Amino acid sequence: MRLTDTGDLWWKTAVVYCLDIETFMDFNDDGVGDFEGLAHRIDYLAELGVTCLWLMPFYPTPGRDDGYDIIDFYGVDSRLGHHGDLVEVLRTAKDRGMRVIADLVVNHTSDQHPWFKASRSSKDNPFRDFYVWRDEIPPNAPTNVFPDKEDGVWQLDEKTGQYYLHNFYRHQPDLNLANPKVRDEIAKVIGYWMQLGFSGFRVDAVPFLKQDGDPGVDPHELLRSLRKYLTRRAGDSVLLGEVNLPFEEQYAFFGGEAADELTMQFDFVGMQKLYLSLARQDARPLADSLRERPVLAQESQWANFVRNHDELTLDKLSEAERMEVFEAFAPDEGMRVFDRGIRRRLPTMLAGDPRHVRMVYSILFSLPGTPVIFYGEEIGMGENLEQAGRLAVRTPMQWNAAANGGFSRARSRRLVAPVTPDGFGPAHVNAADQRSDPDSLLSFFEKLIRRYRASVEIGWGELTIIDAGVDCVLVHAVQGQEGRMIAVHNFSSDPQEIEFALPDGMGPNAELVELLRDGGVVADEKGRVSIALDAFDHRWLRVHDGDDKRLS
Ligand code: GLC
Repeated sequence: MRLTDTGDLWWKTAVVYCLDIETFMDFNDDGVGDFEGLAHRIDYLAELGVTCLWLMPFYPTPGRDDGYDIIDFYGVDSRLGHHGDLVEVLRTAKDRGMRVIADLVVNHTSDQHPWFKASRSSKDNPFRDFYVWRDEIPPNAPTNVFPDKEDGVWQLDEKTGQYYLHNFYRHQPDLNLANPKVRDEIAKVIGYWMQLGFSGFRVDAVPFLKQDGDPGVDPHELLRSLRKYLTRRAGDSVLLGEVNLPFEEQYAFFGGEAADELTMQFDFVGMQKLYLSLARQDARPLADSLRERPVLAQESQWANFVRNHDELTLDKLSEAERMEVFEAFAPDEGMRVFDRGIRRRLPTMLAGDPRHVRMVYSILFSLPGTPVIFYGEEIGMGENLEQAGRLAVRTPMQWNAAANGGFSRARSRRLVAPVTPDGFGPAHVNAADQRSDPDSLLSFFEKLIRRYRASVEIGWGELTIIDAGVDCVLVHAVQGQEGRMIAVHNFSSDPQEIEFALPDGMGPNAELVELLRDGGVVADEKGRVSIALDAFDHRWLRVHDGDDKRLS
C-alpha cells in the first residue's frame, strides 16, 4: 500500500461522525434542528477533522422510531428543510473535504407508507406482495428486537385476516425483499440519493434482511447486487453495515475474500468486550476479541465505535459478563433498556473522569479500523435519563452555555428534545468553551484525529497484540508499509510499570516518538521498552526510522 492509496480507499482512514439533523442545530428557531443549521456547523466538523458525515434518517416519518419509520424514501422531512437545503449541505461538506452518507432503512417502512396502506387494503392489491404476509404465525418465530413493547414479530391485520412480519415495532412492517419489484425500488432509492451527491449508506438492520422461512431471502445475494449497482454508479461509494452478529457471520457479510458485499461493518463484539475490559480493569477481553477478529480483504474495513444512538447493547456477552458491565456502568435499573443494554453515554458511565474518558477514545482511534463517533462525544456530553428508552442519548447538541445550549432560541418546551440537565448540561459541557481551551476534551479529539489521520497504518496495517506481562495494560502494534506504531493503554486506576519486547522488525535500539505528548522512548539493544504509566494512561508511540519521512 502506498500513502496515495488512502485517497482511493478513503473509508479505511476516515473519521465518521454520526448526527441526527433534528437535534444538531436549529437555524430557524422553531425548536427542531434543520439542514440550514447543519450547514452552519460544517466548519466546526471540518476543524474537528471529520471526513465523513453519517446522517441519521431525515426522511418523512410519523416519528414513532425516531425517523427509522419512513413514509417516503425519496423525501425530506419538512421539519428539517427541503431537498434544496440538503443539497446545500452536501455541497458545503464537499467543499470542506467531507463525504456524506445516509441511513438506508429498507428492511421495513412505516405502516403509514403508501405501499403498506395499499398492501393491507386487500389481498389482491398490487402492493400486497411488497410486505410479508402469512395465514398463520409460522412455528419458531424469532423474538422481537424491542421486547419491552412487542411480544412477537407477526401482527394480525384484522381487515384481511393475515399476519404481517415486523422484526421491529409493529408499526414497522418488513418489506418483502424476495419480491423483485421491491428490490428494484430499493435500487432506485439508492440511485436517487447517489445522484444528489451522497457517498454511500449506513445500512440499517442487516441481519434481518434474510426474513423468515419460505420463501426467505439470501441477504448475501441481495447485498452483492446492491453493492455492484452502487459501485457501478460511483466506484468509491460505501455500504457501512449495522450487523450485530458473531465475527464469522460478519466476515460473510463483507463477502469474505471477494469483498463484494458490505464495505464496512461496525465491530459490535469488540465494542462490548471493550466495556467488559473497562468494567474489570483488565485488557484481556478486548485483546482476545481483537485476536479473534477476522483479517479482512484490503477493500474491507472495520468501523470501531464506543457509543451510538441506540442502547449500548451487551447482547454478545454472557449473562454473567453482562451483569458485571451493568453493575459497573448502569447500577440503576432505569439506566438499562431491553434487558440487554445501557442508555447512557460514556462520560457519565466513567463518572466524568477525564483520564478515563480520554483513554477510551485513545483506544478507539488507535484500533485497526475506522473510528465512528456519535455527535457530542467529542465534547463529552452526558444523557438525559428522563427521556424514554434510547432517546436518553439523543438530546440536542450543546454548542454553548446559553439557553438550550445554543441549539435553538425557541422556548425550551418547544424543543424536539430537552437538553441534558445538571452536571453534564450546557453550562458545564459545550463546544464553544472547549474550543478555546487547549486542555479540553474537544482539543484532545482534534489532536487525536490529526495523529490518527497521519498514522495511516492504523487503518491499513497489521495488528500485533504485545504481551506486556500485566493484565490491565493493552499494548498493540500496527504496522503497514507506510508506518509502524505502538499504542499503550492502562485500564487500571493504578499506575503501572511495564516492559515489553517490540515485535520483530521494529528492532533493537528503535526510537519511539510520542505522538500525543512531547518526548520519546528508546528500545534497548534487545528491542525491549520500559514505560511508566499513570492511572488510565494512554500513549501512542511512532517507530521512527530513517525511512519514515513523516513530520512528527
Ligand atoms: C437500527 C437502528 C435503530 C432502529 C432500528 C429499526 O437498529 O439503529 O435505531 O430503531 O434499526 O430501524
